[in-house]
Amino acid sequence: MTSPTDWTGRVGDVWAAEWRRTDRSFADLSRHLDAAILAVAPDRPFRALDIGCGAGGTSLALATTRTDATIIGVDLSTSLVDIANDRLIRAVLSRGRIPGAICGSSDAHSDRPAPEQGGAVGNVTFLAGDALDLATVHAPFDLLYSRHGVMFFDDPVAAFATLRHAAVPGARLIFSCFRNWSANAFATAPAEALGLSPPGSGPGPFAFADRDRVAGILAGAGWRDAHATPVAFAYRAGGGTDPLGDALEMLQRIGPAAAALRGMADGDRGAAIDRLRGVIDRYRTTDAVDFPAAAWIWSAKA
Ligand SMILES: C[S@@+](CC[C@H](N)C(=O)[O-])C[C@H]1O[C@@H](n2cnc3c(N)ncnc32)[C@H](O)[C@@H]1O
Repeated sequence: MTSPTDWTGRVGDVWAAEWRRTDRSFADLSRHLDAAILAVAPDRPFRALDIGCGAGGTSLALATTRTDATIIGVDLSTSLVDIANDRLIRAVLSRGRIPGAICGSSDAHSDRPAPEQGGAVGNVTFLAGDALDLATVHAPFDLLYSRHGVMFFDDPVAAFATLRHAAVPGARLIFSCFRNWSANAFATAPAEALGLSPPGSGPGPFAFADRDRVAGILAGAGWRDAHATPVAFAYRAGGGTDPLGDALEMLQRIGPAAAALRGMADGDRGAAIDRLRGVIDRYRTTDAVDFPAAAWIWSAKA
């Protein structure tokens, strides 16, 4: 279970501090997701919403390819939105362009949305706040997408209905989410090492694992032609000169192992980390730790 206050607080802050590692862990999935987004993007200038944009990787990739898109990325975590804006400014500067607006400023003559806690640069804007509120304020959108940012709503049918209301008729929705827990070794391996149970069915990383349930949510929210494609990918937890140490550090910061280790008595933690290291080692190649992982990529129409 991951609640909105987790994302606005500690969990969001850790994800922001670890954004390079989380981006790397999803990089293999992103090849598929980015292609799916591009495949349905309108062939004219369009407005897009990135739901739970995190550190902004998916939107930055889209903006690079589709310079005619106006993209709004929204996330509950101000720390992650700060990182996204920082990456955006660096990306624009490295292309040698002068930013069209300074982060956090507002431009009364611009048709860009006024920044809340965030800012606009060029045609991309990252804003901190609830995706449903901001989707409503900044509607309409021709394309809505998310990399693993839509599994955390308390009432998913109501949430996806709100997103549909923010979409123009015929707008496309594309998002990724994890398939079943047992097919995702980055979760099962630490569980084996630390004796953790599979997650419950509440909001959280595996809340959208069941294809039929998600199909029902989308249909109940008025989305049509919903279709899920299974994707297998390598979740890279470790790399660099010490892949095992890198992966061990990541799992102690993010995910269920991190929470379990934090809750342990000091005397038990060392042995638990040793067990975790032993299990992770099974997934080490020469220069990486890659966990087999499984996701859905969903597509639907407003
Ligand atoms: C698993 S992370 C994925 C982040 C990012 N899309 C990525 O791929 O790196 C889920 C993200 O969804 C965001 N999130 C969850 N519920 C949200 C909501 N109601 N409104 C906005 N963002 C939300 C979280 O703050 C978090 O950054």
